[in-house]
Amino acid sequence: MTPLDDPAALARLDPHNARRVLAEFPAQCRHACTLTSVPPLRAPRPRAVVVAGMGGSAAGGDLLSVYAAESVDVPILVHRGYGLPALAGPHSLVIAASYSGETAEVLSAFDVAVARNVPVVAVTAGGALAERAEATGRPRVTLPGGLMPRMALGYLFFPALPLLAGCGIDVAPDGEVEETLTTLETLAGELVPERPAAQNEAKRLALAIADRLPAIYGGPATGTVAYRWKTDVEENAKTFALAGALPEMNHNEIEAWRSSGAKDMHVVLLRDRGERPEIARRFRVLHDLIGPAAGGVSEVWGRGEGRLARLVSLTYLGQWTSYYLAVLRERDPWSVPLLDEVKRRLRPPTSP
Ligand code: PA5
Repeated sequence: MTPLDDPAALARLDPHNARRVLAEFPAQCRHACTLTSVPPLRAPRPRAVVVAGMGGSAAGGDLLSVYAAESVDVPILVHRGYGLPALAGPHSLVIAASYSGETAEVLSAFDVAVARNVPVVAVTAGGALAERAEATGRPRVTLPGGLMPRMALGYLFFPALPLLAGCGIDVAPDGEVEETLTTLETLAGELVPERPAAQNEAKRLALAIADRLPAIYGGPATGTVAYRWKTDVEENAKTFALAGALPEMNHNEIEAWRSSGAKDMHVVLLRDRGERPEIARRFRVLHDLIGPAAGGVSEVWGRGEGRLARLVSLTYLGQWTSYYLAVLRERDPWSVPLLDEVKRRLRPPTSP
């Protein structure tokens, strides 16, 4: 029997019970939809939205940006770094997202927003970011604590929808959010550990990838999700992963598939029912060209009708797949010791 179907093995290899957090992700998303800022955000319709975040806290911004790109006439940029880009001025809106509230880059972005008088809202479970929002009277969405940031994606994405709607940007059409939540609820039942590998898409994918390096490719929308799969694999399973997007990778990365290392890689294609026929054709050609060189190829599809449901469900499938990969590789999917060590070494010394 695979360890993925063995409750004792899961309990041993996942001592922090990440599987429960993942199983509760649909409920997290439902709760996240009810969260609002205190005090309420009062800002005119911005000319640009900048989501400042790193790692798991930036992922909500990525999802927002790619989802809104097809329907909203305001650019939504994700800023990963210190400070803010020059376009973030008084006619913009900054969402400073840090689950822990202790991420130096996001604190720096928040400070610059305040200094430049840019409307800014903090999205955080606490820490220095919450303190700074409080001290400067800026609105703050308070998230429940106790999760790993990448497993708090629902909290880092859904509160942005009512925040933006409040300043005149309707990102999600009526019904899309509810459809996303019900799609996730159904999908959770299909991906949880209790569902055996034979009937569990995430377990089957992890078993197919096994010891190979996953190369995850999406299309124009699902390319963003591919990047999130990559970071989930890296943080949860502690192993390298590649991510890329069509059509761009057809113009560069595809050549790397001629290298001898290709047999040690497993291609995962993230498909979307809404993709253009040109993109569907590119996926077929890509499969034909690199499939024979790769160790294996899997193709997966988002669930649901609406774009939001399809994007979020595909992301959720990646969370579970990376979780099961962690178990197969006997890595604790929760802890991130090197990441913590970087933060520890860069922390400013406390005053005596
Ligand atoms: O998922 C993780 O743990 C990381 O990618 C963090 O999100 C990242 O280090 C930033 O921390 P925070 O999300 O607390 O701002």
